[in-house]
Amino acid sequence: MRLDKFLSSQLNDVSRKDVKSLCSKGRVTVNGSAAKRSDIHIDEVNDEIAIDGAAIVYREHIYIMLNKPQGVVCSTRDGLSETVLELVPDELKRKGLFPAGRLDKDTEGFVLITDDGDLAHRMLSPAHHVPKTYFVRLERPCAEGCEILFAEGFEDDEGGCWKPAALKAVNDMRTEFELTITEGRYHQVKRMFSQLDNRVIFLKRISIGNMKLDPDLPLGKCLEILHKDVDKLLAEGAL
Ligand code: URA
Repeated sequence: MRLDKFLSSQLNDVSRKDVKSLCSKGRVTVNGSAAKRSDIHIDEVNDEIAIDGAAIVYREHIYIMLNKPQGVVCSTRDGLSETVLELVPDELKRKGLFPAGRLDKDTEGFVLITDDGDLAHRMLSPAHHVPKTYFVRLERPCAEGCEILFAEGFEDDEGGCWKPAALKAVNDMRTEFELTITEGRYHQVKRMFSQLDNRVIFLKRISIGNMKLDPDLPLGKCLEILHKDVDKLLAEGAL
């Protein structure tokens, strides 16, 4: 890959022209030697590229965990509301970022933001059964035994069926639950409980696959997911 392409693809707001200027000032090194020209070819995986001595490690894609607050929309552009992309800090911004999957505007929690279309497709495709777990607070207690209904899968509101889901009470009043589903249908969690004559009053996604939302990540903040952990997003796990 050309040096200017490499650096402009890895660094936000650095154009190929900027790379040329950095090279002419001797600020870019390839394996320790100053690169005078920005159009030379480098091996992006094995060569050591640095600007002002700081190594730039090649990452083909970036994976970002966002703890989405309420009021923010999961789209790349919205005229009225703040979008999840606006919460990505400059140092993690890249061309082609998008949220992989949607949470409702009033839902909080784990949103994956990436530029990796293949991974997003695998994570969201019903064929892959990647589980997503939600913390759910209900308006009223949920009857004893509804765990079985969820585990078996019940008739949905469109004449089909919800796939089996794992429901676990997390308070004695039975108004708070963790619900794991493997589909991602429109307003799914709210619709499931509304069919049981209940109402979701708070919803937060707390995990995707085997990856839990970092409990120390404040609302509205992002962190980069390490490449070695990315496979956890695709773990199918038994319900
Ligand atoms: N189910 C819902 O009803 N809303 C969400 O945001 C996610 C799952």
